[in-house]
Amino acid sequence: MATAATVWWQAGTIYQIYPRSFQDSNGDGIGDLAGIVGRLPYLRRLGIDAIWLSPIFPSPMADFGYDISDYIGVDPIFGTSADFDALVAAAHGHGLKIILDLVPNHTSDQHPWFVESRSSRDNPKRDWYIWHDPKPDGSAPTNWMSEFGGSSWQYDEATGQYYYHAFLDKQPDLNWRNPAVRNAIYEVMRFWMRRGVDGFRVDVIWHLIKDEEFRDNPTNPNFTAGRPPHEAFLPLYSTDRPETLDVVAEMRRVVDEFDDRVLIGEIYLPFDRLVAYYGSDLSGAHLPFNFALLSAPWNAFAIGELIARYEAALPLGAWPNWVLGNHDRPRVASRVGMAQARVAAMLLLTLRGTPTLYYGDEIGMKQVPIAPDQVQDPFEKNVPGIGLGRDGCRTPMQWGATEHAGFTTGEPWLPLDTDYHHQNAAALAADPHSILSLYVKLIELRKHMPELVFGGYEPVDAAGDVLAYRRVYDGQTVLIALNLSGGPASLHVGAGEILLATGLDRHGENVSGALELAGNEGVMVRLR
Ligand code: NOJ
Repeated sequence: MATAATVWWQAGTIYQIYPRSFQDSNGDGIGDLAGIVGRLPYLRRLGIDAIWLSPIFPSPMADFGYDISDYIGVDPIFGTSADFDALVAAAHGHGLKIILDLVPNHTSDQHPWFVESRSSRDNPKRDWYIWHDPKPDGSAPTNWMSEFGGSSWQYDEATGQYYYHAFLDKQPDLNWRNPAVRNAIYEVMRFWMRRGVDGFRVDVIWHLIKDEEFRDNPTNPNFTAGRPPHEAFLPLYSTDRPETLDVVAEMRRVVDEFDDRVLIGEIYLPFDRLVAYYGSDLSGAHLPFNFALLSAPWNAFAIGELIARYEAALPLGAWPNWVLGNHDRPRVASRVGMAQARVAAMLLLTLRGTPTLYYGDEIGMKQVPIAPDQVQDPFEKNVPGIGLGRDGCRTPMQWGATEHAGFTTGEPWLPLDTDYHHQNAAALAADPHSILSLYVKLIELRKHMPELVFGGYEPVDAAGDVLAYRRVYDGQTVLIALNLSGGPASLHVGAGEILLATGLDRHGENVSGALELAGNEGVMVRLR
């Protein structure tokens, strides 16, 4: 039984903004901070509680901001530091929290720390990054692979050593075994918290520490062609080292120096390892991101099973969370189809744990096809043609039916979906049966029904492709029944009243005995 939560990151809904693609205010075709400020009223009407911004810091943009050259500035593409302060003030004025992306695993190769580090072997910053001698034959120190293809080691002619980069060679990894590096990043965290930010989403937190002995990774016996090349090896020695958890606990202590802040970790690991990032006695991340729904087979059995496994894996007192989309994975409306996107919304907003919603999913934005000459994503450029590109889920927010969907007066940096004339926020806000209206209603119900936030999760047996569960709190029970198939289904539920259906067309209907579900329909029933 969950205990009553009192903090905002437990009760609230988090909304991820990819700043390049949300709203442009100066006509350069790229979203910016002033654009976000102008759209805060939309976010308030949507009902979300916190905004997580993907990186806004000065960057050569080799990986669109995940290659930082100054941790405490704002890239001119997005605006100025004053614009950032204005955003924090305006968001707080609307009752919205601001969560920043912290990218501590690596910097840009243009960051002054790396420029110094590579300048000579005896530079004081040499040990801020991971330098290693070649093997006797001159080859890379280990077989570790970059997540963006190829070796993760880059040879530096000038100093005769390799440096390690888990992502692009333009993103050298910092050496988190070096206390000076840790302290420098902790100072960055304090800097932003003093500026009023409410927490951090920490990029690839499970990567921070690498094997001290630099052992080769074992090959992956289950690797199949068509998967990302780095999956040919199991990243046993390059990620998720035991010492990482000490670092996460240290970060948490920094966050705890300030009131009411949140620490979220980006972690792609199986549940048994994922939950370790809550830390011993919950001294780690408040929310290790749970990405299971991003790759789950879309059927009731598989999803029911993964919810049960997650619930069972959670340490005592750990607060769960669920993510349906992000800037690295295909859009949910394309993964599961438009009809099921509504069911997915009801799932996300009724499960036990903090929901994180990706911008545009609330209006059913789809994965946009990107022609080869439009590709921006370095991942797709390095490993082309097998569907790994992330541009398709990063296309501009579709605000209205006007030119470029109201995103920009210039040329958008990525193409818009051709469907924006009808699939846009303005049109869908005016339609009481739209997916946007469904999201508004679901978020509102979550705010007003403590059982959806604090209630326990109780699976309910259901025949066919129906996922059903109860959320129970303080004598109140709400039943959620999600039909994951296109055909009709039926479920015995007892007596109750329908609170919400995914078609927004059954509110107030009495149920007695059998609950009939149309294909692709989800229903919430207040049980009597
Ligand atoms: C994870 C981020 O979500 C992704 O967009 C980025 O490319 C890598 N980390 C490298 O920072």
